[in-house]
Amino acid sequence: MKFLISAGPTREKIDPVRFITNYSSGKMGYALAGAAADAGHETILVSGPVCLEAPRNVTLISVETAAEMAAEIKKVSDSSDIIIMAAAVADYRPIKVHSEKMKKGSGNITLELERTEDILASLGKIKHPGQILAGFAAETNKLLENALKKLNEKNLDWIIANEVGGKNSGFMSDENSVTMLSADGEKIVLPLENKKSLAVKIISVLTSGK
Ligand code: CTP
Repeated sequence: MKFLISAGPTREKIDPVRFITNYSSGKMGYALAGAAADAGHETILVSGPVCLEAPRNVTLISVETAAEMAAEIKKVSDSSDIIIMAAAVADYRPIKVHSEKMKKGSGNITLELERTEDILASLGKIKHPGQILAGFAAETNKLLENALKKLNEKNLDWIIANEVGGKNSGFMSDENSVTMLSADGEKIVLPLENKKSLAVKIISVLTSGK
């Protein structure tokens, strides 16, 4: 099967030396791409800036911004059987990107931000029959309630509920625990373990009906 997986943060430029980003390490997305490739699937990984090596047998496409990620994903999404959006895509970007380094003054400043495209929601609108679309819900509270909302609102087959901001799991850690919820009402709890072995289980769930 053909997998398309996104990973890592995006960077949204403020000026030539500054940007807005988040704590995503890319480890979960890279582990998923590695697990998919190891299981014999053709795998494309679209990644924001991270300090990780591409897993073997994975085609890596590197991007920086949410807009670049959206463009690269749309080039290959139609021919993908299973899409997993593990990237922590920035929801907002500065309206104005300064061409020169911004100089400081004595007072406060305000950055005006505009929404980026919700790539997963766009994919949910153009999903074709048989295609499996999975997203992550990165939450600091009301984990399953918020995850379920994303599953429905973005027209997904699976949402992988992922508590972030804690000490033992989430963005920076080598370990993670998730709960997978499907549009068919399945609930699979995967307790805390190494992201690489967790990824093998997630890939196995996503391919089980195929
Ligand atoms: N996502 C996306 N494009 C965005 C924002 C998010 O494709 N601009 C995807 C993420 O890759 C993830 C899912 O949507 O698979 C949920 O992302 P998350 O950050 O948990 O939630 P948001 O939808 O951004 O909502 P909120 O930030 O309000 O929780």
